[in-house]
Amino acid sequence: MILKPSMRSQVLPMPVVLISTVSKDGVRNAAPWGCIMPILRPLDEIAIASWLKRDTLDNIRDTGEFVVNVPTVEMAEAVDICAKSFPPEVDEFEEAGLLPHPSAKVAPPGIDGCIAWMECELVEEILRERFSLIIGKVVCLEGNDAFFDDGGGMDYEKARPMSMILGPDGVCYTHPARGNR
Ligand SMILES: Cc1cc2nc3c(=O)[nH]c(=O)nc-3n(C[C@H](O)[C@H](O)[C@H](O)COP(=O)(O)O)c2cc1C
Repeated sequence: MILKPSMRSQVLPMPVVLISTVSKDGVRNAAPWGCIMPILRPLDEIAIASWLKRDTLDNIRDTGEFVVNVPTVEMAEAVDICAKSFPPEVDEFEEAGLLPHPSAKVAPPGIDGCIAWMECELVEEILRERFSLIIGKVVCLEGNDAFFDDGGGMDYEKARPMSMILGPDGVCYTHPARGNR
């Protein structure tokens, strides 16, 4: 079957993360993000793609900081609430019933109950006509002890990190299962 080139994101499983930021006025924001990738193993930078009309993008530009939170599939309801378009003055932690997880190196808090938290500083913005690519450096990476062994390995069948497959009717949330090795 030949698919339209624009459907390339319907053939790739993508992660789902929540990006938490704080506005220059101190308002907390949280938004789900799928277009995110680590830039080459084992470096410490990460790239996210953003449409231009995003409070998340404005906050990253204004403060230079963000946290990439890795949610469990059980957090799907909160993820969907954060996907709504709230005005910038609305605290999205309160709207979605999210509790803060203290950050060590950046001002925005992480989100309590997540599997891992990547505290990031803005390194570079690559601005295109319709979108922007944000490159961040991970300055602190913390895993939730409930889901990691002493060697830093994630029990992903217990943690159930959220991912998604896009279909013609929208997003289907998924989580990893063990393969054959
Ligand atoms: C699963 C999922 C993944 C998303 N991924 C992206 C993304 O990669 N880039 C983007 O700009 N918006 C993405 N969005 C849309 C934003 O999360 C949504 O527009 C949100 O309201 C933006 O919030 P903000 O204006 O507070 O930043 C995604 C939404 C969902 C539900």
